Amino acid sequence: MTDQAQSQTITPQHIAIIMDGNGRWAQQRGKKRVQGHKAGMERAREMVQTCGALGVKALTLFAFSSENWRRPKDEVGFLMNLFITGLTNESKSLHKNNVQLRVIGDVSMFEPKLQKAIENAETLTKNNDGIVLQIAANYGGQWDIVNAVNNILVEQPDTQQVTAEQLSNKLTGADLPDPDLLIRTGGETRISNFLLWQCAYSELYFSSQLWPDFDSEALKEAVNDFASRQRRFGKTGEQISSADTISTD
Ligand code: FPP
Repeated sequence: MTDQAQSQTITPQHIAIIMDGNGRWAQQRGKKRVQGHKAGMERAREMVQTCGALGVKALTLFAFSSENWRRPKDEVGFLMNLFITGLTNESKSLHKNNVQLRVIGDVSMFEPKLQKAIENAETLTKNNDGIVLQIAANYGGQWDIVNAVNNILVEQPDTQQVTAEQLSNKLTGADLPDPDLLIRTGGETRISNFLLWQCAYSELYFSSQLWPDFDSEALKEAVNDFASRQRRFGKTGEQISSADTISTD
């Protein structure tokens, strides 16, 4: 959704998170990198609960980027198995908690067992109307945009020009509000090809904490920081302040 006139809300409607720092967290403890991913999975579960309790409508977690295939084969294999067991073990509990799970990204590259686990979890939870949990897997923001354009060309082969609205309607998560808040843990200050279009007006929050250390308190701090910011969507601060006093919508 690209509506720059979204109204300011204190609780972000959509939070997107780049969960960085698993490997370093494990190495600092003399463990293998993959143990960091396991601990990271636990934090991801906690974040879904906390976001639900805070009234957040959508949470998007960057679990595996299009570029992560370049990692050592063992680590990629471990992550794939973690996703399979995670989806299989968690889907019932997500369903019970009214969470709607979606996986965004090019899942056709995954092994059939993982594709099946994704399909099962998505089917089970598709009618839930609680928080939407998007797991970005084999996802890249550039892929998302190119994929959207290609879908438009397939559906409307005579297309000469694509509008921003047409494009944004074909991106992943088109029915959700764009992320209000993008959090990246692990000390890096990059977007790393995550939700490039959808984050055009997101507030960015960078934490030096490694992902497995980023607990509910840390998330609440990020949300409080978000609440203190003035989002201008291209307008002046004065325009926003006077609109605030006129309308309390
Ligand atoms: C980045 O840390 C993390 C990843 C590439 C994997 C993230 C996956 C999880 C947290 C598992 C949760 C999965 C689901 C389905 C929610 P890094 O390995 O780049 O850390 P480093 O920068 O310290 O090396």
